[in-house]
Amino acid sequence: MAANANEQTQEELILGFLSERGSDDYTSGEALSSKLGLSRTAVWKHVESLRAKGYRIEAVSARGYRLVSVPDRLTALEVVPLLDTHDLGRTLHHHASLPSTNEKAFRLAQDGAEHGEVVVAEQQTAGKGRRGRVWVSPPGLNLYFSAILRPALPPQRAPELTLVAAVALAEALRDAGANAAIKWPNDVHIDGRKVAGILTELSAEPERVHFVIVGVGVNLNSQAEHFPDELRDTATSLSLALGKPVQRAQFAAALWTRLEEWLDLYLETGFDAVRARWKALSSTLGQDVLVRTDRQELRGRAEDIDPSGALLVRTAEGSLERVLAGDVEQLRPRR
Ligand code: BTN
Repeated sequence: MAANANEQTQEELILGFLSERGSDDYTSGEALSSKLGLSRTAVWKHVESLRAKGYRIEAVSARGYRLVSVPDRLTALEVVPLLDTHDLGRTLHHHASLPSTNEKAFRLAQDGAEHGEVVVAEQQTAGKGRRGRVWVSPPGLNLYFSAILRPALPPQRAPELTLVAAVALAEALRDAGANAAIKWPNDVHIDGRKVAGILTELSAEPERVHFVIVGVGVNLNSQAEHFPDELRDTATSLSLALGKPVQRAQFAAALWTRLEEWLDLYLETGFDAVRARWKALSSTLGQDVLVRTDRQELRGRAEDIDPSGALLVRTAEGSLERVLAGDVEQLRPRR
């Protein structure tokens, strides 16, 4: 309903102003009412409504309002005020539970959803990983989202978007203080354990992309007991790496801001800058690897990625093989 949407926007604006000031500073009621064009009473009512939603906002007479803490949710109210994007995440479809955000985003895009709309879920009951695998998605701990993109690209260039997302993801994790690296093609690791994955899906005709769904799962607050036995030795979370809880809305906003920056640069200037940054963030290049594709297993040294994002592997026999899709296992160096 329009009235609710309007109230929500005003609450987002109030949160935006308060979080800009930080948790140490007060914003006067007068300043808020003049910025928003609302009466002091209307501002007070919005603050009361935010408090009912779990925000701790302190009010001190003659000083104003101070945002003490925000609830750890991923609704527009928490994320949008923290975004520094023009499109990405500004329309946010938040769900308590979905089978898969990628599936939901695909259907929304088929029904006309716009570039930049994002679907986020607190939990996925059938989260999809690459190559038919499951993405373990317990409730309330992590970040599972799918961005709807409508880039003006020929379909054969769409896989480059996965590398754009991997670069943004590794940078956002590094900004948060973790030692993140990219394992080809699109897994992000911290100290050798997988923390995030990307699943890109495409709808296109021969000459033109209709839309691309970039689906990302990031383990933010999972602890060892949240991983199934078979993942316990190979998976991690940002919280495990940092030794403290992660504020999910803050991470989501920082990641989407990064993602849009890289996307803009890529669409303006092409793949070169992304490729260079991907190489700098890679833990795969220079390693001896075993690559499993649908058709074969290949051993060799990961030498480079080519201008379209394919992995170039130098075999022991000296040939250079180009791998478009597969799983990489990093082996110990050759002697
Ligand atoms: C991988 O196998 O590494 C890719 C994992 C991608 C998981 C994310 S979680 C959000 C989005 N929705 C899905 O069903 N999958 C992706």
